[in-house]
Amino acid sequence: MTRVRRKKKVEVVEESTDEIGALEKLVSMKEDFASFYWDYLDQALLESEYKENVIRIADTIQAFCAENADLMLAYFQLNREDEYELIHPLYTAVICEILGVKKKIAYEDRNQVICAALTHDIGMHTLIDVLKYQESPLTPDQLADLKLHPIRSVKLLRDAGVTEKVWMMSVQQHHERLDGSGYPYGLLLEDISLGARMIAIADTYIAMTKPHAHRQGSFAKAALSELFANRGDKVDNELTQIFIREMGLFPPGAVVRLMNGDIAMVTHRGKNATTPIVQSIVGPRGAPLPKPIPRNTQHEAFAIRDMEQDEEYRQIAFSSAIDLWTQKKIHFSSS
Ligand SMILES: [Fe+2]
Ligand SMILES: [Fe+2]
Repeated sequence: MTRVRRKKKVEVVEESTDEIGALEKLVSMKEDFASFYWDYLDQALLESEYKENVIRIADTIQAFCAENADLMLAYFQLNREDEYELIHPLYTAVICEILGVKKKIAYEDRNQVICAALTHDIGMHTLIDVLKYQESPLTPDQLADLKLHPIRSVKLLRDAGVTEKVWMMSVQQHHERLDGSGYPYGLLLEDISLGARMIAIADTYIAMTKPHAHRQGSFAKAALSELFANRGDKVDNELTQIFIREMGLFPPGAVVRLMNGDIAMVTHRGKNATTPIVQSIVGPRGAPLPKPIPRNTQHEAFAIRDMEQDEEYRQIAFSSAIDLWTQKKIHFSSS
């Protein structure tokens, strides 16, 4: 009797195949957004077309977030190669969608909040252009001008044919704070719309973690704890708690040092706030690894010691992440 050789059951987990297509789609969405954003600001685009384009990108962001929110978070957190003015609205939009889904807001309203996130600072473009090259702090005139940008954004949107209430209110109130310390109107509590509260959290977090000309950005962890300290006071209590729970202490795109000395990047959120999924990119002696190594942060040796802020590590992390997302990596797990 010939013995039938039982074939070992091999389970093929095409873990990152989805991410290959997802990165391509994400980059083309970003380029799509960039081209009409600049065209609009250069007045090379019809205002009505601007509105249609924003809605199209909002739909795309909602679809992508449903498929692969971690990739979007990591990509926008790590990317400092594209202009901040471009990454900022997209990253804000992604965070708003994550918050909106958890808050069980209807699709249509989330779509309007995303449109608001994508357009909230358009009234600040001229000032951003000046500040890019300005070494000194804002002059009193510039500060006064800055505080008018939500109103200016709303006016531009109205000219572009936007009438949607949630969208407009979210833009107009995105710098209002619960205790009345915000601008332009110093509104209080319930007078601030839900969409504006969502953008306020995303906007503050992204601005805090961004390195500035004269200082490094804070660590994601520090930004999260500052938001937590301000919850209920300046920013919405429940939304802040959802935000921190959803991001984890080490959100995708964070660069961290592990207990064994490795430098690693967070690619996905984990089961709990302190144990995200990471890939080591630099060894304990400071040498970049030939290719990223997945590490289990639940394991004592690979637990996260702290965050790392070095720009050089950020660059290694971003290019390693791009490599990971573009390579077809098939994992075999036999059983
Ligand atoms: Fe703003
Ligand atoms: Fe902003």
